[in-house]
Amino acid sequence: MKDFFRKKDMSGMNGEFQRRLGLMDVTFIGIGAIIGAGIFVITGQAAATMAGPAIILSFLLGAVMIAITALIYAELSSAYPVAGSAYSFTFASLGEMFAWFVGWNLLLEYGVATAAVATGWSGYLRGFLENSLNIHIPVALSGAYNPSAGTYIDISAFGIILAIFVLLAIGIKESARVNSAIVFIKFAVLITFVVVGVPHIDLNNLSNFFPFGWEGVWHGAALILFAYLGFDAISTVAEETKEPQKNIPWGLILSLLISVIFFILVSFTLTAIVPYDKLNVPDALAFALYQVNEPLAANIIALGAVITITTVMLVMGLGFTRILFALARDGLLAKNLSTIHPKYGTPFKATLIGGALLSLMAGFVPLKTLAELVNIGTLFAYLMVAIAIIVLRRQNTIEPAFKVPAFKILMPLNFILIIFMMAGLPFATWLRFIGWSLIGMVIYWFYGSKNSELNQ
Ligand code: ALA
Repeated sequence: MKDFFRKKDMSGMNGEFQRRLGLMDVTFIGIGAIIGAGIFVITGQAAATMAGPAIILSFLLGAVMIAITALIYAELSSAYPVAGSAYSFTFASLGEMFAWFVGWNLLLEYGVATAAVATGWSGYLRGFLENSLNIHIPVALSGAYNPSAGTYIDISAFGIILAIFVLLAIGIKESARVNSAIVFIKFAVLITFVVVGVPHIDLNNLSNFFPFGWEGVWHGAALILFAYLGFDAISTVAEETKEPQKNIPWGLILSLLISVIFFILVSFTLTAIVPYDKLNVPDALAFALYQVNEPLAANIIALGAVITITTVMLVMGLGFTRILFALARDGLLAKNLSTIHPKYGTPFKATLIGGALLSLMAGFVPLKTLAELVNIGTLFAYLMVAIAIIVLRRQNTIEPAFKVPAFKILMPLNFILIIFMMAGLPFATWLRFIGWSLIGMVIYWFYGSKNSELNQ
């Protein structure tokens, strides 16, 4: 039993990857992961069904929680710049069993998010192909396995994940380059939306600001949190970053700051130009511009969404492979998943197996309801990281280059906000989360605890 709480000493670890990424690369990796299906798809749905125009307050509430968590990640990854992020921090502080659970939930966060975003991406793609180019994908190949609806596989979701994982296997610098180019398009698309939208603002649309009261703001925040997820992917590439003590904290802070500014501007503009109750559509931003008679800009936004949501899959997929790598390196999953390719310098086995698994999920499984599962798994990891930083500061072995300011005020606030957000998620989500944790417990009990590196 005491093996379950054995800890890993990370103080001398320097990593096994080549350090290829700079501050701009990691900031863009963060933005690449953050700005995606959340703002493009979920904002409209959350405004229409949960918060109304007050969705902007849900975004702000989420921003406060996420900002404190990002500061914690910044401190921990400046002290321990190794792959594995929250998983590695927990290993050093709370021991192996908790670390396994964090890793297990991060696989859920990155894996299910990648697959879910792929499914959403493929919906946008079909819409764009049909509306602009009059190209129709056969029904049988256009959705998750559901014979009664005539759909057998979502071929574009399946294909895009395969393509992305091949790119990830070839190399991180190449992946970062593609990511950076797409992030510029992301900025252009959102700026276009705001610039074209602002002249159409009608303050009457904001007059019923709280249609669902503060409770709506709360549930909206628990859902819209999805829009912020991904910033933590930055710390999964710490081992591959130059001067990680400096670049990782700044990458985290900058990517989050830039994303929050965009979220506030876009969600305000969206709910100010169209009545909130019309926004329950899969492509809210394009839809809103069609409504105010700006079809050209709307088409640009639709195509832009297809292009830019790709980076979310790229970075979430990257996070997934790096967590798989870290778990395997420590012997908690099959060891050979941690082999690094001699030429490409990537954990190619973890990448290819992860790609195969997630492409099948995206192709055959309808993942909409699982999006909330992503949130709860991630919040659990954030909770563990918040406990980890307190324990690690007590151990006091390392002086981090970056420290969370106003620690005594921000930490209690962080705990309250994380638990508040978790409580805002539906009961069914909690049940699925418990199921996933039980499966994890069985794997740890019968495999991980016996094969752990720490046994040697
Ligand atoms: N934050 C990411 C998105 O919104 C997961 O797509």
